[in-house]
Amino acid sequence: MRTLVFDTPAEASQKAFELVRESLENGSTTFGLATGSTPEKLYELIVASDLDFSQASSINLDEYYGLTKQDPQSYAYFMKKHLISHKPFKNVYIPDGEAQDIDAELARYDKIIEENPIDLQILGIGNNGHIGFNEPPADFNGRTQFIDLDQSTIEANARLFDSIDEVPTKALTMGIKSIMDSKKIILMAFGEEKARAVQKLIEGPVDPMVPASVLQNHPDVVVLLDKASAQFLA
Ligand code: F6R
Repeated sequence: MRTLVFDTPAEASQKAFELVRESLENGSTTFGLATGSTPEKLYELIVASDLDFSQASSINLDEYYGLTKQDPQSYAYFMKKHLISHKPFKNVYIPDGEAQDIDAELARYDKIIEENPIDLQILGIGNNGHIGFNEPPADFNGRTQFIDLDQSTIEANARLFDSIDEVPTKALTMGIKSIMDSKKIILMAFGEEKARAVQKLIEGPVDPMVPASVLQNHPDVVVLLDKASAQFLA
């Protein structure tokens, strides 16, 4: 794992943008994407750039269960708002949070990932060390899953909802095994609330209770931090 610490999230996002550009220019066609506050600046930089993703595919990590795609809190809406409606991709894949047949949806998503190997995966990290919505204890061999969100994740994400009661309690997420199959991974983490998770990600043992720690076993991971999230690193 290569760790780079920047003064600000903006500078770290600029570095992420440069790595995405390099990856695209080197022929990457499939990009695994995250939602949440962390990648917003990266998507802003991509939208403002002349990068052409019209021949590329995006595969999102996760989606809340039970929200319609038009719901402003859904990750389908987030992706449209922050990236896809401004920067067209050839294919956009997001788990279907409205699926009636969950098993069929999990299988559909696994097939998409199998048929479109991920060249570059963008990740954030939860305060509890989750990646995607793989909550602790994580199944390191897992593929796409239907999961219960951790209480700590519900509390962290409540900031984006009118009240905590509106935060969905379930989600669909790409599994750890699929994330680990990505050729290259960029994980970004900003702010002091991420500092403990970042320390465990980088310095702790590989432990299902810190799902992101499995990334220590991946051959090509770049971790981009700001000073606040890096504050507990040795
Ligand atoms: C979102 C995702 C999550 C977030 C994490 C951090 O698609 O996969 O793992 O990256 O919850 O969220 P933010 O960036 O909002 O702090």
